Amino acid sequence: MSDDKKFRSYDWFGKSDKMGFVHRSWLRNQGYPSDYFDGRPVIGICNTWSDLTPCNAHLRDFAEIVKRGVIEAGGFPLEFPVTSLGETIMRPSTMLFRNLASMDTEETIRANPLDGVVLLTGCDKTTPSTLMGACSVDLPTIVVPGGPMLNGRYKGECVGSGSFNWLIKEKQTVENYTAADILEMEIGVARSQGHCMTMGTASTMACMVEALGLTLPGAAAIPAVDSRKKVMAQLSGRRIVEMVKEDLKLSKVLTREAFENAIVVNAAVGGSTNFIIHLLAIAGRIGVELNLDDFDALGSKIPLLVNLKPSGKYLMEDFYYAGGLPVVLQEIMPYLHPDVITVNGSTLGQNNAEMTCHNKEVIATLAEPLQTEAGIAVLKGNLCENGAIIKPSAASPALMKHRGRAVVFETIEDYHARIDDPDLDIDETCVIVLKGVGPKGYPGMPEVGNVDLPEKLLKKGIRDMVRISDGRMSGTAAGTVVLHVSPESAVGGTLAVVENGDMIELDVEQRRLHLDISDEELQRRKAAWIPPAPQAVRGYVKLYINHVQQAHLGADMDLLQGGSGSEVTRDLH
Ligand code: FES
Ligand code: MG
Repeated sequence: MSDDKKFRSYDWFGKSDKMGFVHRSWLRNQGYPSDYFDGRPVIGICNTWSDLTPCNAHLRDFAEIVKRGVIEAGGFPLEFPVTSLGETIMRPSTMLFRNLASMDTEETIRANPLDGVVLLTGCDKTTPSTLMGACSVDLPTIVVPGGPMLNGRYKGECVGSGSFNWLIKEKQTVENYTAADILEMEIGVARSQGHCMTMGTASTMACMVEALGLTLPGAAAIPAVDSRKKVMAQLSGRRIVEMVKEDLKLSKVLTREAFENAIVVNAAVGGSTNFIIHLLAIAGRIGVELNLDDFDALGSKIPLLVNLKPSGKYLMEDFYYAGGLPVVLQEIMPYLHPDVITVNGSTLGQNNAEMTCHNKEVIATLAEPLQTEAGIAVLKGNLCENGAIIKPSAASPALMKHRGRAVVFETIEDYHARIDDPDLDIDETCVIVLKGVGPKGYPGMPEVGNVDLPEKLLKKGIRDMVRISDGRMSGTAAGTVVLHVSPESAVGGTLAVVENGDMIELDVEQRRLHLDISDEELQRRKAAWIPPAPQAVRGYVKLYINHVQQAHLGADMDLLQGGSGSEVTRDLH
């Protein structure tokens, strides 16, 4: 034993009986000396590396750097893989599998002789999924975000990964981009290892974990290929060993105040709307009360300080060189709880004092923000009985108050089949309504809410229209897009009964989303509504459909909320 305190792993490795032998002996086939089992902290390195998750591919090597840090600090590192979710490849949506990956992470941590955990994350869902799982066990845990790619470059311009995708139809239709242009662009926006370098969901999640106090200070913005990222990984390996000795577990860091801080920070950085759904799910796991209205109450009046795509102009590499998240944290400290403890043992306020901003075009000041009110607005009304959201910083000011005729698509297939039909009765004043893309309906609530506009309107020069759905939108996208309508259409929310020609009113300032039909007509339509057949009859997807909660609750499964702690009383013999 390295000191008097017995850690959790002692239950496995500390015994001199048959089971102690079994637990140690097979591991020793890796050549670990016997003193590795002397009671030192055992650190699980939870790796989301996968060739199928290109944003996390470099984490294969990063685990070795983390191990170096763990060993230096006197710990015993054991790396393990968990389900990795590659945003750009998995069908029908990585969101369908976020909860599955969280289950994998939770059960793997609990079932094994681990005293502390390092989460190696990157691509969008790999951060919330692993963190949700870790919260349900509640061991000391530190996050090492894998870091963004270098800025995309094409034809002398900076292009943002993700954000460019949404312009492809426009570029081809209006600017005559050729197939060769697109091919060259493909690699131009993916120049190095790392995740999307816009303020999309991956960068948003990295900022979220730093704001929650779960990373070493400054970790979020460092590009994946910058040598300082490796330093961060090694220091995190050292630190987790100390955290185990201090019993600094997740629930000590993840207080209500820490969640409030994260909401404020997300507004200031112009973070993704997906932040809402993931933060709600994380709070549900650690047992902190948080609801949709908190995001509006705490975040919507916060000024936008970070000038990154999709809300702004720059990319993560620029953000890092300008000083990264610590500069933002220092600037908005008046809106934060500075006394919350973070994983390095110091408070958020202590960690982020005396930062220097190196580029005020990239990180603005409170005195001269990019926008005065940037956070996500939560809408209410008969069209979204349990709420819906919109990201004003990514929307068109002219459409923030809008009344228009609904053009309804019953499914995503219906949308694809008809949107570019020259005879489709639609103009720029219409409201595009897309059903069947919620948690149960798709299933998995994909990022399709920011559907492309009809070709004929793009050619006319129209760049934005009001779009409403029960789906999500990529953090890299922009537009006047109402998302996360709850309840979703597949369970019979009002969205299910919107018909072509209905008038819809959006008023972001009043937080209102209204379907302009009488209550009697609404009741009549709901009574006549026939639920769609479920999308799966077996397997994980059926489990998911049966148990997933609506968007306003974070789309976690009801049976996964809360935690089961770290204790396992029964052994394998
Ligand atoms: Fe992985 Fe964007 S696709 S972070
Ligand atoms: Mg995404």
